[in-house]
Amino acid sequence: MNDLAGKHIVLGLSGGIACYKAAELCRALVKDGATVQVVMTEAAEQFTTAVTMQALSGRPVFTSQWDARTSGGVDNNMAHINLSREADAIVVAPASADFMARLVHGRADDLLSLMCLARPIDKVPLILAPAMNREMWAHPATQRNVKQLRADGTTVLDVGAGEQACGETGDGRMLEPEELIYDIARFFQPKPLAGQHVLVSAGPTFEAIDPVRGLTNLSSGKMGFAIARAAHEAGAQVTLVAGPVGLPTPRGVGRVNVKSAQNMQKSLDLLVPGATGVISAAAVADWRPALAVEHKIKKDGSGAVPTLSFVENPDILATIAASPRAKSGALYCVGFAAESHDLEEHAQAKRLRKGVPLLVGNIGPATFGQDDNALLLVDDQGMTELPRASKLVLARQLVAEIARRLPG
Ligand code: C5P
Repeated sequence: MNDLAGKHIVLGLSGGIACYKAAELCRALVKDGATVQVVMTEAAEQFTTAVTMQALSGRPVFTSQWDARTSGGVDNNMAHINLSREADAIVVAPASADFMARLVHGRADDLLSLMCLARPIDKVPLILAPAMNREMWAHPATQRNVKQLRADGTTVLDVGAGEQACGETGDGRMLEPEELIYDIARFFQPKPLAGQHVLVSAGPTFEAIDPVRGLTNLSSGKMGFAIARAAHEAGAQVTLVAGPVGLPTPRGVGRVNVKSAQNMQKSLDLLVPGATGVISAAAVADWRPALAVEHKIKKDGSGAVPTLSFVENPDILATIAASPRAKSGALYCVGFAAESHDLEEHAQAKRLRKGVPLLVGNIGPATFGQDDNALLLVDDQGMTELPRASKLVLARQLVAEIARRLPG
């Protein structure tokens, strides 16, 4: 994705078996566009080597505050100052229980803790990825330290749960490298939706014909899932209401799985009172079979074909947009339109029909199932084009456009 292009990360390793994941993290950071300067504690060197980390980061590794090599292009023997001044963030992964305890007390007796203390606190954020045994993680001293670190402005990431190197099972595993990359990318995104609670509908619906057959469409859900991720990155609390798709839930996003349009409406109706925004990216079926058949329709060999009749599904978005909260501006509604031609004209007409302030048009065949797309935003001011890009890039742009339009 190159989400971290242009970012310079100081990657700190303190002692823990999770150091083996730090090697993978370093590689992933570089692959994502960052430059990486590794700093290791003496304890970290018991678990992995500076040689490995140098090879992966492409830079000499620093391990001691007495290391007199040139750092940050300066020969003043002050690696703790020089290396921290050029960083966009210091990421300590793994952050051991001991290392966090030392940070809480402002200790500065090795290069990494010294650098964390000496960094300009307003300019160089500190992100910790804790890793330890479950009892150590749950211990009141560690939990007290996490709380204090957060109060001091440090970002302490979640821990994973599961089997631990010691053979026990529980909370305290370091997040996987791909989860860390995701959280670090999220950290750097602007937060214009902080305080908002956004609902995103995504994917197709499935309208049952009988217990084994149904009507659906080619929506992959990728655009809606990317929007959910982007809205969460922008600081919102996000709940996805997803039709039947096999996509993984974006980290930190809540998810309700639904099948039919009626299921989707029911779930949204329950969630809407707590929401401040609804982004309706789902490709909701317009019609459903009039009769829900209890048993599988059988072929009887006579060549007779079943007759299906349909009823119209409720227009979920139009119903939400007509509610008093939406009308008053307390609930901001965004619709989508998948068209095959005359996008602007159809999108504007649909926006007025649905009663939403913003409608996002795209060309159906050019988006369904694809990893990239192009969007046309229409509101009462006219149109804004978001040219072809990956769905995540477009989702971030769309979220920024929505944030700009929010009342107040
Ligand atoms: O009318 P059309 O299906 O083109 O409208 C698309 C927009 O309306 C999308 O935002 C879609 O999620 C929403 N919609 C809905 N309920 C329906 C049909 C569409 O909420 N029954």
